[in-house]
Amino acid sequence: MSATLSAAAVTVLGTAAAFEKCRLTRAFAADRAEGRLAAPGNEAPPPRPARPERPVLLAPREMPKRAYGGEKGRIGLIHALAHIELNAIDLAWDMVCRFSAEAMPGAFLDDWVRVALDEAIHFEMLAGLLHRLGAAYGDLPAHDGLWQAAEKTADDLMARLVVVPMTLEARGLDTTPTTIERLTRNGDDLTPPALEVIYRDEIRHVAAGLRWFRFLAERRGLDGKAEYHRLMADRFPGGLKPPFNHDARAEAGFPRDWYEPLGR
Ligand SMILES: [Fe+2]
Ligand SMILES: [Fe+2]
Repeated sequence: MSATLSAAAVTVLGTAAAFEKCRLTRAFAADRAEGRLAAPGNEAPPPRPARPERPVLLAPREMPKRAYGGEKGRIGLIHALAHIELNAIDLAWDMVCRFSAEAMPGAFLDDWVRVALDEAIHFEMLAGLLHRLGAAYGDLPAHDGLWQAAEKTADDLMARLVVVPMTLEARGLDTTPTTIERLTRNGDDLTPPALEVIYRDEIRHVAAGLRWFRFLAERRGLDGKAEYHRLMADRFPGGLKPPFNHDARAEAGFPRDWYEPLGR
């Protein structure tokens, strides 16, 4: 067997069509679980993953204001979340193959393959909801800023873990329960169950980020909390937006005295 895990990752990153990206993610995750992609390899990822022709990607300031409430608002919200999940599939595969020089343990690679699989399931679930509402991923314009976090942290695995799972995915834990409540109050019984699944999985993704951040801090002889603060000041200087979901963050193993002082 000559195929390596990083070659598989590069294949997914180079695949533009969203459902094909998901299908390959499922296939490679099964291969990895069954021992067919055991060799990590050292194929390097492309600077930017391939994306479908639609949705049209717009700069954040060009994004039309999303309709609030009603069927249109619901489609807009689910479409925006689906776009985030598609990006998250690529972020997970990028994590698998970008930092091969770190020679991370197989368990690290297993964790991010599992994350990629979760994100593919999240995307498919949201795309399924759009379909039930008579819409599809690609119908609306989407935000082009999401890959910036990857570009800004392509040089250092600890910085990547701090910005992506420990900041952006942790932010999802803070906001998702409020979104679920609001939708439920508006009589939406379709979207909240999907968001519950995503919420539970994202706690695991944040936990994986923290676990490997701590592993690297120890390997490099650094104090985890001090290094987290140093990297946040350097790579995410705007700080964090409270209120925090302390329960979910605690479940993910995030010490309150790490993130709370960064609230602004
Ligand atoms: Fe997700
Ligand atoms: Fe995630």
